[in-house]
Amino acid sequence: MAAICLVFFLAAALAATSGGEAAIVEHTFVVSQIKINHLCNDTLVTVVNGQLPGPTIEVTEGDSLVVHVINKSPTGLTIHWHGVKQQLNCWADGPGMITQCPIQPSKNFTYRFNVIGQDGTLWWHAHVGFLRATIHGALVIRPRSGPNSYPFPKPDEEIPIVIGEWWDVDLVHLETRVENRIYEDWPRSPTINGMLGDLSNCYGVTENNYILNVEIGKTYLLRIVNAAVHEEYNLKIAGHKFTVVAVDANYVKPYTTDTIVTASGETVDALLVADAPPGRYYMVAQAVQSPEPSPQIPVLISRGVVSYNYNTSEGSDDDGTPILAPELPDQHDATTSFYFRGNLTSLLPQPVPVNVDEHLLIAIDVGDICLYAGSPNCMVSKLNNISFELPTTTSLLQAHYNNNMSRSVSMLQELPSSPPMVEFGHSPTSKATIVRRVRHNTVVEIVFQNPYSSDLISNTNPMHLHGHDFFILGQGLGRYDMMKDVQAYNLVDPPARNTALVPIYGWMAIRFVANNPGVWFLHCHMEKHVSSGMALALVVENGHTLKATLPPPPEDYPSCDDQNSRVSDE
Ligand code: C2O
Repeated sequence: MAAICLVFFLAAALAATSGGEAAIVEHTFVVSQIKINHLCNDTLVTVVNGQLPGPTIEVTEGDSLVVHVINKSPTGLTIHWHGVKQQLNCWADGPGMITQCPIQPSKNFTYRFNVIGQDGTLWWHAHVGFLRATIHGALVIRPRSGPNSYPFPKPDEEIPIVIGEWWDVDLVHLETRVENRIYEDWPRSPTINGMLGDLSNCYGVTENNYILNVEIGKTYLLRIVNAAVHEEYNLKIAGHKFTVVAVDANYVKPYTTDTIVTASGETVDALLVADAPPGRYYMVAQAVQSPEPSPQIPVLISRGVVSYNYNTSEGSDDDGTPILAPELPDQHDATTSFYFRGNLTSLLPQPVPVNVDEHLLIAIDVGDICLYAGSPNCMVSKLNNISFELPTTTSLLQAHYNNNMSRSVSMLQELPSSPPMVEFGHSPTSKATIVRRVRHNTVVEIVFQNPYSSDLISNTNPMHLHGHDFFILGQGLGRYDMMKDVQAYNLVDPPARNTALVPIYGWMAIRFVANNPGVWFLHCHMEKHVSSGMALALVVENGHTLKATLPPPPEDYPSCDDQNSRVSDE
């Protein structure tokens, strides 16, 4: 043990001095239940190392990360490293029943992976049902050649801003409700770095604000993570502008805006210059809400404070000066998000593959699994008229690796390349474990189409792909028209991301090379949507060489042979 520590210490010391050597960064995540008090209630929540948000992991590009997960909670869980490409290492990706079975109570599992070829802000979260509401944290990847090599002015400080949502319910129970197609639960408030802010109160006692103390003239790199279970958030700071420099750990051309928009799963790196008259300014996270007939959420706003004063401490920065509030867009305004995204281009020209091998048109919609319309308890989410169901006895990756997916996954079905019908709306549908198989190195283009008529339920759906980044070629309102819309694709400098927001009443086109053998979850990042079926698994086959072949699972891999594996069903 001492020897290992010494090696680790030497490697870390070497990396620190030379800035060149890759290090092994080791963390232990003890998962347990604690009580957190908000809004007059003690709520029992499952967290990592007693913290919410959980610990920030910091690595340098090229480092190896080793995370020992020790499950001292009463439920099985997994951790997913959202946005980490996991080249040839699908076993460490983490989505429950997709790449592994949950780590059972009192069991451990060590995730080991390299962080290669990407830098910026990513994050990690539990990947079984709603548990990620309280099990998440930022993952900061610095460039190998040091912070002087940022393609933007070197910031004085770097600050993670984790937007979350506080639910004062039992999250395992919540998952069961959604699986029974009861969708009426909502978070009590968004949070900024775990704090609800002063718009939430219990008998007049306000919740604490997150406070960012700034010094005049300094530049702050905000590493913004939308770790919320559901909503898309506008982030504004009164009296200040942001310069967006990266999204999903991919650099973009610096883009100046007063509103940052992130959907669940997305990250944004933005510079904030403290150049306002000294004072106090609200930092506001406001949920963007779909209009009727989509179910209406309560108004979800959380406020933090950017403070130029120094006589402050967290929660009590009240020195009597008024706090300036930013003007907020209407909560149903989806155009701010649409334009924010449309203005993002990658910093450098991108190698966008020109010849597409597989075109997929995926219609996102709600369906009815009772064969008659009307009852709210029949409503599911679906992709090309199939509603996704997780396998129950084996993880898809294990089945795929053992070459017996069709035998061991009883409800297996291949995603059709296009929807069976053009009409949207609450139509009869069925459930299946949807997969789409592609050969190694297939160039895949996916157009996601939302319902586009305003009398239908339509949401902004953040579709997240594991194991790959993709290029966002275009987005539009209304119905995708191949002849016309392909002409407008950005094939020069499209942003690369791991999450693509399909605009309400519109479509979104992405393209990528399926170059990572394994089983990769592709799903809406709103938990109610994934739990109700808005998901599929992309199965990327092995190539012909060893370098294109998924190695065997790690030794302590949580396999599904233990029958109590499916946690969220209990
Ligand atoms: Cu951040 Cu499959 O999720």
